[in-house]
Amino acid sequence: MPLFESPHAEHDEIVGADAATRALSVTVVETDFVARVYEKLASTYDFTFGPTLHPGRVQALQRMGIRSHDTVLEVGVGTGINCTLYPRDCHVTGIDLSDSMLEKARERVSRKGINNVRLLEMDAAHMKFADDTFDIVYAPYVISVVPDPVAVVREMVRVCRPGGKVIVLNHFLSPNPLMAWVERAISPFTVHIGFKSDLDLPAFLAQADLKPVSIEKINIPRIWSLVTCIKA
Ligand SMILES: C[S@@+](CC[C@H](N)C(=O)[O-])C[C@H]1O[C@@H](n2cnc3c(N)ncnc32)[C@H](O)[C@@H]1O
Repeated sequence: MPLFESPHAEHDEIVGADAATRALSVTVVETDFVARVYEKLASTYDFTFGPTLHPGRVQALQRMGIRSHDTVLEVGVGTGINCTLYPRDCHVTGIDLSDSMLEKARERVSRKGINNVRLLEMDAAHMKFADDTFDIVYAPYVISVVPDPVAVVREMVRVCRPGGKVIVLNHFLSPNPLMAWVERAISPFTVHIGFKSDLDLPAFLAQADLKPVSIEKINIPRIWSLVTCIKA
C-alpha cells in the first residue's frame, strides 16, 4: 500500500499517465499519401463506407442541435454524404483535401438541389478561415485519417466561435486489451484503405488539450465515439 495515494490514480489507470506524450498511433502517414489513397477511393467510397457508417452520421446530426442560420464547417466532407442531412436553413462549408472526393460531393449537391452547402479544397491542418468563424465545426470520420490529428483539431477550435461546438465522430483504439492489440496490428494495413484503426482517444484529448462535454458511443457495433466540446 503506498504511503500517499495519488488522487489521480484511478484516472491515470484509464487514461495512462503518459497520455500527454505517447504516440497516437503505431502508424505515421504523410498528407500526400492520404491524398493518393482518397483519389483512388473516391469512386467506391459511397458503397464501401456509405451504409455501414451512416447510422453514426444521422445520430451525430441529431445530437448537433443546429439552429436556423447557424454556420457549420464540415472538415473532410468527402463525397458530400452528410450534405443531405443538414437542415436547409443553416449555412454549411465543406472542405476536403481530395479533388476526386470533392468532385463527387459537387455532383451530389447539384443532383439533390442543395443550395446551402459550399465546397472548398483545403487542408484541414492549415485552414484559410479567420479565427472564430463558425458556430459548429464537425469532423465526421476524419480525425484518424489525417497525418496530424492534434494539428487538425487545433485548427477546428481556432475557427470555431467562443461558445460554439467542436465535434469529432470517429473510431478510436479499444479500451479492451485484446481488441487494442488487433487494432494496432492491422493499423499499418488499414491506412491503405483510408484510416488508422488505433487512434488513442485519451492521448488525443490530452495532447489537443480538449475537455469534452460528452463522449457518446454510437453506430453498430458501438465502437465509434461522438466527442463534443464547447469552445471556451
Ligand atoms: C473517411 S472520409 C470521411 C468523409 C465524410 N466526412 C463521411 O462522413 O463519410 C475522410 C475524408 O477526409 C479527407 N481528408 C483527409 N485528410 C485531409 C486533410 N488534411 N484536410 C482535409 N480533408 C482531408 C479525405 O480526402 C476524405 O474525403
